[in-house]
Amino acid sequence: MTDRYAVIGNPVLHSRGPQIHAAFALQTGQPLSYERILAPLDGFTRAARAFRDAGGRGLNVTIPFKVEASSYATRLTDRARDAGAVNTLRFDADEALGDNTDGAGLVTDITIRLGVELAGRQVLLAGAGGAARGVAGPLLDADPAELFIVNRTAETARELARRHRSRGRVAGGAFDDVAHRSFDVVINATAASLAGDSLPLAASVFAHCSLAYDLVYADRPTPFMRFASESGATQVSDGLGMLVAQAAESFLLWRGVRPDPLPVMAELRAERALADSR
Ligand code: ATR
Repeated sequence: MTDRYAVIGNPVLHSRGPQIHAAFALQTGQPLSYERILAPLDGFTRAARAFRDAGGRGLNVTIPFKVEASSYATRLTDRARDAGAVNTLRFDADEALGDNTDGAGLVTDITIRLGVELAGRQVLLAGAGGAARGVAGPLLDADPAELFIVNRTAETARELARRHRSRGRVAGGAFDDVAHRSFDVVINATAASLAGDSLPLAASVFAHCSLAYDLVYADRPTPFMRFASESGATQVSDGLGMLVAQAAESFLLWRGVRPDPLPVMAELRAERALADSR
């Protein structure tokens, strides 16, 4: 029987998971199916259990269930515990392993696809919500000279920095705290782009910036990406590469094989370009 996987969320229709994992399955010759499960807002556990009981081997978990999924898991990877959220579940005979592949996806996309070094660099992370918590640990594991976390609510950024203090040079604060500084890599993990907003960052922050990265997957450059380009960033990127790379990490956890995200990313971009031209 073909092994079954799915993405579970609410809403879930927008998820690119089925297309990405079908492409990975084809690329690696792994026989599997991947579906979408729309769970009621109060029905995550029931839906996850039903899928597992029916023979399901693993789930990707999306909004709004990532925190609930970490309580559902019977064992957590270190990075899932750090993030306080689970985006991947693997069902084995005796356990439900919870993992979080978001941060690894981001780091892979930055260092491999975009070819930008994080080790020894000054990195600015904007945001301290769920998305930022998912990537802060893996960013620090990449050994930057400094990770500075800024947030509209400065105290949340300070608290996130405090949680990671033992892992490297990390500080937190308000956007104003970095007004007179510049960073090599600037990452937007806030929800500002979703609201069509830019960030209250001074142009000088991007003066020596080799990469400005927005976690949001966008058809067009976000206000943050546009501002970064205008202010001197040599390279800007949206989060499509991270989306595909975190899916590749999930696939690896499930199947023990790491697919190549690049051709799948190119396919998604080309499709989007075609849709835009119609
Ligand atoms: P997510 O899971 O996308 O991170 P979240 O946990 O609700 O969602 O966190 C949203 C993040 O975006 C927070 O860091 C939030 O800042 P606050 O903690 O001050 O609320 C940030 N954010 C949302 N809208 C923003 C905006 N217009 N400008 C700047 N930051 C914004």
